[in-house]
Amino acid sequence: MSPTSTSSDVLVIGGGIIGLVTAWRAAQRGFATAVVDPEPGGGAAQVAAGMLAAVTELHYGEQTLLGLNLASARRYPDFAAELTELTGRDLGYRRCGTLAVALDADDRAHLRELHALQQQSGLESQWLSGRECRRLEPMLAPGVRGGLRVDGDHQIDPRRLAGALVAACERAGVVFHRTWAERLTVVRDRAAGAVLADGTEAAAGQVVLAGGSLSGRLAGVPDDVLPPVRPVKGQVLRLTMPLRHGPFLSRTVRAVVRGSHVYLVPRESGELVVGATSEELGWDTTVTAGGVYELLRDAHELVPGITELPLTETRAGLRPGSPDNAPLLGPTGLEGLLLATGHYRNGVLLTPVTGDALAHALATGELPEEARPFTPKRFSTATALTEQPA
Ligand code: GLY
Repeated sequence: MSPTSTSSDVLVIGGGIIGLVTAWRAAQRGFATAVVDPEPGGGAAQVAAGMLAAVTELHYGEQTLLGLNLASARRYPDFAAELTELTGRDLGYRRCGTLAVALDADDRAHLRELHALQQQSGLESQWLSGRECRRLEPMLAPGVRGGLRVDGDHQIDPRRLAGALVAACERAGVVFHRTWAERLTVVRDRAAGAVLADGTEAAAGQVVLAGGSLSGRLAGVPDDVLPPVRPVKGQVLRLTMPLRHGPFLSRTVRAVVRGSHVYLVPRESGELVVGATSEELGWDTTVTAGGVYELLRDAHELVPGITELPLTETRAGLRPGSPDNAPLLGPTGLEGLLLATGHYRNGVLLTPVTGDALAHALATGELPEEARPFTPKRFSTATALTEQPA
C-alpha cells in the first residue's frame, strides 16, 4: 500500500463530540477506526454551555425527540464515570439541577404551559413562587414571578468532554487524520472511504458522516442522501464568578426574555456561561456587539449582579439544525454510509446515546429501537412517497 493510502473498518468524518463518541464506541466493538478532522475535539462543543436539559428544553411537537433525550440523560452518570475512569479526566459533570424562571405575566403563562406539558409527559418538575425561587437562588432579580425547578436537568463541561473523548479514542487505538475530508469515495454504489485534503486515500468498510453543520457539504455524497442540515449560529459569553462567599448561582438558571432564550450555567470552577443567541446567518461566526448586548441585557434582568463579573470570553458556534430539530442517525440509502448529525440544540445531551446507536448500527446494519425514529431515511423522497397514506 502506498504511503498516501490507508484503510480502516470505519472512517468517521468529523471529530467533534459526536464523531468522537462514535469512533470510540466503534473501536470498543473491535472495529479498526479512523477519524478525519483537522482539529479533533473542536467544533460546536468548544462553544456550547453543556446543559443536559431534556426537561426544561421540552418543546411542543418534539415528544419523540424527548424520548431520545431522556434515554441519553439516563446514560450520562455511567457514561461520564466510564470516561473519567478511562482517561483520568474530570468532565465537570454536575447534578446541580435547573431553575427556569418567569419575569413577567407572559413568561409565567408560558412556563405554566411548559409545566403542564412536562406533567402530561410524565416528567418531574416543581412549580415555585417568585419568593421560593429567590430562596433557592438569592442572586435572582426581585421581579422574578415564579419558576420551574427541575432537579433532573444537569450539566457537563463540553470542552472537558471533548478532550476526554479524544483521549479515550487514542487509548482505544483510533487513528486520527488531522486534515479535512475532501470527497466521499463511492465504488459500485457503495461508500468506500474518502479522499482527504492532503491527498490520502482513506479506504473504509463503512463511513460515518459526523461533520456537524458542515455535514451537508461533503463532495461526492449523492444528492438523495446528503443530510439536510444547516448552521444555526449561537453566540455565548463566559464570565467568572467569585468563589469566596458561597456560590453566586448554585444551579442553571434560564428564562425566555422578550421571546429569546437566555441561560446562565455556573461551573464549579467559577466559570459562568451565558447563552445563547439563535441566528440563521449561514456560516457567519462573528461575535457581534448586538449579540453580546442582548445576552448581557437579558441575563442582567434575571441576575442583576452579573454586571460586576469579569467578562472573560465571547464566542460564536454553529448548531447543526435539521428540518425537524432532531438528529439524523444510522444507515442511509447509500450502502456503507451512515449519518450522525443534525443534533441541533442537543448535541452534548445526545452524545452518549448517539455513540451507542451508531456502534449498534455499524455492527448490525440496524438502529436500536430507541433510535429508529431518527433514521435519515425519514427525509428521503422515496421513503416519503411510500409512506403516503392510501
Ligand atoms: N441547548 C442550548 C442551545 O442550543 O443554545
